[in-house]
Formats: sequence, structure tokens, C-alpha cells
Amino acid sequence: MPAISVSAPGKMILCGEHAVVYRQPAIAIPLQQIKTSTRIFAHPTAPQGEIHLVADAIGFEGSLFDLDESNPIRAALSLVKAYFSIAHFPACEIRIHSTIPIASGLGSSASVSVSLISALCEFLGHPLPVHEINQLAFEVEKLHHGNPSGVDNTVIAYNQPVYFIRDELLEFLQVTAPLHFVVANTGIPGSTAEAVANVRQNWQKDPLKLEGTFNQIGEISAKIRSQIQAANASAIGTLMNENHALLQTLQVSCPELDNLVNAARTAGALGAKLSGGGLGGNMIALVQPETGLGVMQTLLQAGALSAFETTLARTKGG
Ligand code: MEV
Repeated sequence: MPAISVSAPGKMILCGEHAVVYRQPAIAIPLQQIKTSTRIFAHPTAPQGEIHLVADAIGFEGSLFDLDESNPIRAALSLVKAYFSIAHFPACEIRIHSTIPIASGLGSSASVSVSLISALCEFLGHPLPVHEINQLAFEVEKLHHGNPSGVDNTVIAYNQPVYFIRDELLEFLQVTAPLHFVVANTGIPGSTAEAVANVRQNWQKDPLKLEGTFNQIGEISAKIRSQIQAANASAIGTLMNENHALLQTLQVSCPELDNLVNAARTAGALGAKLSGGGLGGNMIALVQPETGLGVMQTLLQAGALSAFETTLARTKGG
């Protein structure tokens, strides 16, 4: 069988994280600057079922079967085998290389799952439609995050900006005018599973209060969707600031995220917020094209480990 190579992007959550777990809308955008590439090479002379894995994201090289059965990479293989009802996967070498920082809110786990599952299916000669890849990747996300909404695997599998409501709605976002962002990493690893579990605990203690916050965040996502269609960047910035304040009340921000969010606003960003699970990881700032570089430099001076600019492009018919 020939060598297969499949890439999947990273992602950023523009708004609605955490509330989306509770069926409020969120907007997520694929990021092409960072990605996972999975390559699979046939090893026809090796014994059937033998799989050599090289995965830099988890610092692993060896037999895939040395990984724990619950390991998401091994689980992805098991899911694909079960999907096609095959007992043994053909002997091969799998190389997974990712430029997405892990535990940073940029979709590293979902990107690995999507690229790996797609590559495994292509290697078998049975490429699957995107919605099937997405379903399988969602199963793997459950191992990573416990109770994910599915937004991460969805935006990455479809590789398009989405307006997403768990179990209800997948809408491809209409973008009327491009939007420019700076993405900056606190350098603090933030566990999405931990952040989601903390929010759940607080929700169990005070469901009315937390549901009020989730509703407010959902309303912000709906308003941002409208303002994207209206090409009103300054209104989007203000709504992002409001979203960050609500995420602070959910206790998923941290001093390092707040510091970068404030630095971006002071440097002229239209709005800024944490993005993804929080408790560390990345923040995003909405900027004018001409202020992006200055905001990025300010963020690096304010302690960001790394930063880059990205543009949400106008969509066809947007
Ligand atoms: C993580 O990118 C987004 C969260 O809302 C978790 C989820 O939706 O599964 C924090």
C-alpha cells in the first residue's frame, strides 16, 4: 500500500467556550498556521498487525501496542478497526507530527485525532466522508476531555469556521469582511478536561447561577454571529470583552491570561479574551490589520511565550 499523508489544522474558539458544553452556541475558526500531519507507510514484510508509531506530540516512538489501551492514538486505531470490522490493521509505520502546542486551547488533541483517523481510513483504501471522520474523532475527544461538546473536532474536521450548538446545529459561518486576530500563548499548560470538570462542579453547586452565565455567553455568540455578518468589528471586540468577563466568573481564566488580555486592549485591540478551555493556554485579540503587529509585540513584551497573527477570511457569498 502506498504512503499516505493527511493534515488537519488547529483551531481557535472565538466565543462560547464552556457554555457550548451546556448546549449554548459557540463560534470556532480553523487555524491553518498550526497543524498536525500524519503519514502512514506500509511495512509489507513485517508481521500482520505490527504498527510502529513515531509521535512527537507525546514524545513516543515504539510499538503502538505499548501505549495504554485508553491512549487516544491507540483508541483511534481501535475505532477505525471496529468501523471496518477488521481484526488486524495492515503492518505499517505511523508518523504523527504536530506544530500545535499541547494543552494550549488550540485543538491539538482534536487535530491529531482528525488527521490520524482520516489517514488510517485512506490507508485502508476507504476514505470516509467528513461527518464520519468527525463522529469517530468525537469518540476519541471523549477520552481526552471527558465531556466535550464536539466543537473542536467539528471545526477541525470540516476545516471551516462554524457556528455550533451541541447535538443541534452545525452552521458554516458567513463572513462578510475579513477579521484580523492575534493569538498569544501564556506558556502555562491549561488542561481542558480539568477546566470543564471545574465548571461542572460549580454548576452542580449552583445550577441557576451557572446557567444564567451560560445563557449570557450564548447570547454573546448569537450577537457576534450577527455582527460578523454586519462586518462590525468594533461591536465584535466589545462582545469578546464581555465574553472574557463571563469566563472570569466561571473561574477558567488565570492571572497570566488576564494580563495578556489587558495588555492587548491597552495596545489598541478592539477586544480580547481567553480562547479554549482556559486555566492557561492561549488568548486571542481582535485587531485592525494595521495594529496587529504592535499588539503582537506588546503581548510578547507582556510575557507571551509566542504569538502569531491570523485572518478570518471573507466567505463566498458572505
Ligand atoms: C475547548 O476548546 C472548548 C470547551 O468548550 C470544551 C468543549 O467544548 O468541549 C472548553
